[in-house]
Amino acid sequence: MKVLLLGSGGREHALAWKIAQSPKIEKLYIAPGNAGTSAVGENVDIKATDFPALKAFALEHKIDMIVVGPEDPLVQGIFDCFKEDAATRHIAIIGPSAKGAQLEGSKEFAKEFMLRHNIPTARYKSVTAETLEEGLAFLETLTTPYVLKADGLCAGKGVLILPTLEEARKELKEMLGGMFGDASATVVIEEFLSGIECSVFVLSDGEHYKVLPVAKDYKRIGEGDKGLNTGGMGSVTPVPFANDEFMAKVRERIIEPTINGLREEGILYKGFIFLGLINVQNEPMVIEYNVRMGDPETESVMLRIKSDIVELFEGVHKANLDTKTMELDPRTAACVMLVSGGYPEAYKKGYPITGFNLAEATDSILFHAGTAVKDGQTVTNGGRVIAVCSYGETKEEALAKSYKVAETLSFEGKYFRRDIGFDL
Ligand code: AMP
Ligand code: GLY
Repeated sequence: MKVLLLGSGGREHALAWKIAQSPKIEKLYIAPGNAGTSAVGENVDIKATDFPALKAFALEHKIDMIVVGPEDPLVQGIFDCFKEDAATRHIAIIGPSAKGAQLEGSKEFAKEFMLRHNIPTARYKSVTAETLEEGLAFLETLTTPYVLKADGLCAGKGVLILPTLEEARKELKEMLGGMFGDASATVVIEEFLSGIECSVFVLSDGEHYKVLPVAKDYKRIGEGDKGLNTGGMGSVTPVPFANDEFMAKVRERIIEPTINGLREEGILYKGFIFLGLINVQNEPMVIEYNVRMGDPETESVMLRIKSDIVELFEGVHKANLDTKTMELDPRTAACVMLVSGGYPEAYKKGYPITGFNLAEATDSILFHAGTAVKDGQTVTNGGRVIAVCSYGETKEEALAKSYKVAETLSFEGKYFRRDIGFDL
């Protein structure tokens, strides 16, 4: 089978690593990929949203399946674009239709969907510049802190959590006034939920589903979850509080109503559903939907899937996922992200990375997030640089292994959080 994976981050390196292990794989291409993915497949210099170029490439290279890593191509309709064209219709696309991708592409759509299907989520009101007064009145009914969300995609930056009513009123006006361009022309105002979060990943063929290992990610730059939001500083799976009792509630109240709701509404969905959940006194509630895998959760989750992931993807395409088995590794997997100095604010790129030979002497697995090869040398090429992932019998053991390698790898300005998993 010839597979084309789209994307260029640590998530994609982890997916590529897992896909490449499948005996079914004849050839794996990654568009555009990074220095890490080139070690497990062949990088192709095409942007993940350049549909005409992707189609031409897929036809020329007789691609059987496209696995979509990031949300942008999904929200922009890659599934429909391939399915509506007789020449590319036969290609399996692992990812939802454009309509399904609205679960991530529009917070308002996601909230209305949850309301229609009785899926537990925070109380909310969706407003535009025309209905600002209603929004301000809704804010009065809430208590601190106040949650404002831009409706559209903002590369993870569209959520503001504000301590005072005064700030919430001011920021609401600014968001509606174009703070995030068109993405915040509609703003969802939400009740704040208090609890611990986790990421639940579901793979669905539109009818059946499999639940992947549950993970927790660490978004803030600083230890103790302080400071600015990042693309993710580390992850751990499994999550002890996501026990059988909690997961039974997640399946019954969230996963099944989501999959059934999509089907009932005639929304084609063959791909990953990422539930950002919050545990409010043992009751799972949905913070957000994403229509792809999480980053850096994928980097630890892939370590725990023993089954052939390409076989599962075939089940998604053929709508017989129920006939496939997903075997999991019972161990813990932990990922620590090495980032560039200054990230998530301004940082420099192009610093040589050394210490790979020492890392190779361990059983940790490195997934590249932002790297490039320059004159034969691997250099930093992004804010998040390398995810160091390890197995352990316990969380402590997995993390200790990752931290050892995190120390070994070296580049100018390297930073990582030393408290991943602290709250589990
Ligand atoms: P989102 O982009 O929707 O994932 O939001 C970013 C982060 O904001 C989430 O991971 C949560 O930590 C936080 N957040 C979003 N909505 C709420 C809410 N209603 N209550 C509490 N925290 C929230
Ligand atoms: N780790 C959160 C995300 O991928 O959005």
